[in-house]
Amino acid sequence: MTCVGFALYNFGMKKIRVSATSANIGAGFDCMGLALNLYNEITVGECDEKLIIKTDKNLPKDETNLVYVSMKKVFDLCGRTPNVYIEQINNIPVASGLGSSAACVVAGVVGANELLGKPLGEHEIVDLCTALDGHPDNVVPAIKGGVTAGVIMDGHVEYIKCRAPENLNLFAATPNFELHTEKSRSVLPESYSRADVVYSLSRAIVTFAALVNSDADMLKVIDDKLHQQYRKPLIKGYDEVVKAFGDAGAISHFLSGAGPTIIGLFKSDASVKLPAGWTLRKLGIERDGVKVSVI
Ligand code: HSE
Repeated sequence: MTCVGFALYNFGMKKIRVSATSANIGAGFDCMGLALNLYNEITVGECDEKLIIKTDKNLPKDETNLVYVSMKKVFDLCGRTPNVYIEQINNIPVASGLGSSAACVVAGVVGANELLGKPLGEHEIVDLCTALDGHPDNVVPAIKGGVTAGVIMDGHVEYIKCRAPENLNLFAATPNFELHTEKSRSVLPESYSRADVVYSLSRAIVTFAALVNSDADMLKVIDDKLHQQYRKPLIKGYDEVVKAFGDAGAISHFLSGAGPTIIGLFKSDASVKLPAGWTLRKLGIERDGVKVSVI
């Protein structure tokens, strides 16, 4: 196929669909996460120019583009860098706590692996994505779907997935401002008291067990003393949103990843009235993870 100004080799073009993710789920800081049914779609193929990037969003169209940076890691590992065409449809809002960076990393690594004929296996993909994103709590659910927990052990990620309750309704409240992860991590303390660690550890374990057992009522324990209380001052309107979720009958709420999105969990549909400047998305859990199709 010939497009305006460059030739696209449309044999073997692949579309990678990657979901939004919500990391931490309260106390599972840098460990637990879940996949959401909100997606970015990235089409990758080979072309006759070094790099072509098409996107309708204000994203870099050069080698600093995160999808390409992630693809290049695979090319470097495998010793082959083809000319690449990338088309990005980004529906996950950036710097919102919904895993937009992790989705780009996963799309890049999986897309490059497809272009090279799948030299990397799933564990190598998980390890590489985790190294690029910094922790496994967004990339593992983006790859595997469902609710996941991951630990880094001897330089590799060991992870586990559960499907999560069928009857869970998630409402994501996202404000009209961005909060970059770097800033949101900069306000966290270097160390914690034993009481705060026990408070958080006990809740992380019961939260994951409640998700495994589909015990939605027990998700009332979701809370932590590791990150949310320190990040709250960065998020204007936090208390109003939490009140709106409570008024609408939420089982619990949590800051999604590094914020500023806040997620409310409900057993059934709900009518949530958010303050001005916040957008509500009713979301479900993406259960299957990253999807590759030939186009
Ligand atoms: N676990 C990470 C954090 C997720 O809370 O900072 C955001 O990348």
